[in-house]
Amino acid sequence: MVNVVGLGYIGLPTALMMAAHGVEVVGTDYNQELVNTLNAGKTTFKEDGLDELFEQAVKAGIKFSTKYEKTDMYIVSVPTPYDAESKKIDASYVVSAVKSVMDVCPKGATVVIESTVSPGTIDRFVRPVVEANGFVIGEDIHLVHAPERIIPGNMVFELVNNSRTIGADNVEIGEKVKGVYKSFCQGDIVVTDIRTAEMTKVVENTFRDINIAFANELAKICRADNMDVYEIIRIANKHPRVNILTPGPGVGGHCISVDPWFLVGDYPGLANIIKMARTINDGMPDFVLERIHTIMKEKGMDDVSRVGFYGLTYKENVDDMRESPTLQMLESMERHLCGNLVKVYDPFIEKNVVPNQYHDLDEFLEAVDFVVLLVGHDEIKNNMEKLKGKVILDTRNICFLEGVYKI
Ligand SMILES: NC(=O)c1ccc[n+]([C@@H]2O[C@H](COP(=O)([O-])OP(=O)(O)OC[C@H]3O[C@@H](n4cnc5c(N)ncnc54)[C@H](O)[C@@H]3O)[C@@H](O)[C@H]2O)c1
Repeated sequence: MVNVVGLGYIGLPTALMMAAHGVEVVGTDYNQELVNTLNAGKTTFKEDGLDELFEQAVKAGIKFSTKYEKTDMYIVSVPTPYDAESKKIDASYVVSAVKSVMDVCPKGATVVIESTVSPGTIDRFVRPVVEANGFVIGEDIHLVHAPERIIPGNMVFELVNNSRTIGADNVEIGEKVKGVYKSFCQGDIVVTDIRTAEMTKVVENTFRDINIAFANELAKICRADNMDVYEIIRIANKHPRVNILTPGPGVGGHCISVDPWFLVGDYPGLANIIKMARTINDGMPDFVLERIHTIMKEKGMDDVSRVGFYGLTYKENVDDMRESPTLQMLESMERHLCGNLVKVYDPFIEKNVVPNQYHDLDEFLEAVDFVVLLVGHDEIKNNMEKLKGKVILDTRNICFLEGVYKI
């Protein structure tokens, strides 16, 4: 039996996938409300194919609980934020979850950390907790790191098809855990040591962040001299060894905007490009605000309450708002005392999370003259004609109506 600890964006689909493929699974989360929702037969976030997977897993007998189970394998997928001051990983959630696991786990159990962690975290934070409970690592308890690569919006497909990494202290344990993931994963599974697995995962997200920062910096340079960044990237990408990403309003989510900071925090004198990339990407929401200000001046507009932000999530077609550029822009506007004036709408966010939030596209459009496209949800891509007559700032390069402004 496997006890998956932490049933969020990563833990839930992983638990469901295993259960749907014949592994006996109990999912544990200390959030009682979340467990109640799952036990009531409902999923806790929107994701393509998740409801169907949930149904299969429930039929296969998956259980959800706030209690930790006595079992031979644990998969820990709890949050790993960074400390705002030091930029180092905040391992407190992982430590607390492992402590709770230690209270119930029998000798011989394998504890898999799926959460993304900075290199050395398992040595520095997890091993001491296991040893403090009287276990000998490698004899009584086996530690493994199995980071996740799935992308919100395509999680169910990627869980099956991505390749993945398993870091273990010895190859036999690595192979044993690989066998469990093989129950559903058709990708290549590489077995390595724990520190290599930790570093590899953080490096992957850092690579993405740096490449996004390059595209964003190009957007700023092109804007300064009125060049078309998208056309320049389109042409440059015809070069067989060039693949520039698309600029945007910033980087959100729980991975790319977080993990590179771990390296900045741990290697302050060495992680220079990495720090610069983070700073460039974190500066994009303010750059978009400046664009809005310039366009309003150009158009002779002065009423911020007639400006509408389309999209609250950090990427298209998901309901995850963590670290989203829109939220960062609203926060920044709040500091200038105008954050509660703009109108906001996102088809994926049903709850009211910000002031002046609309829940109907037509009503939202009626209330604004200037639409800032911040997320490329399919909904707006399929309804572009509704934007005719509005002033439009398109930060995602999805709108090709006449007169549209780009970042
Ligand atoms: N979201 C992504 O796209 C993504 C992709 C790859 C990797 N990751 C990594 O996976 C990890 C989990 O991220 P997430 O997005 O699933 O987070 P999340 O916030 O969606 O979910 C974490 C869950 O853990 C629960 N939890 C926290 N501490 C607990 C404890 N001690 N006992 C029981 N439950 C506990 C919380 O209640 C929450 O439901 C992070 O390290 C993240 O960096 C996330």
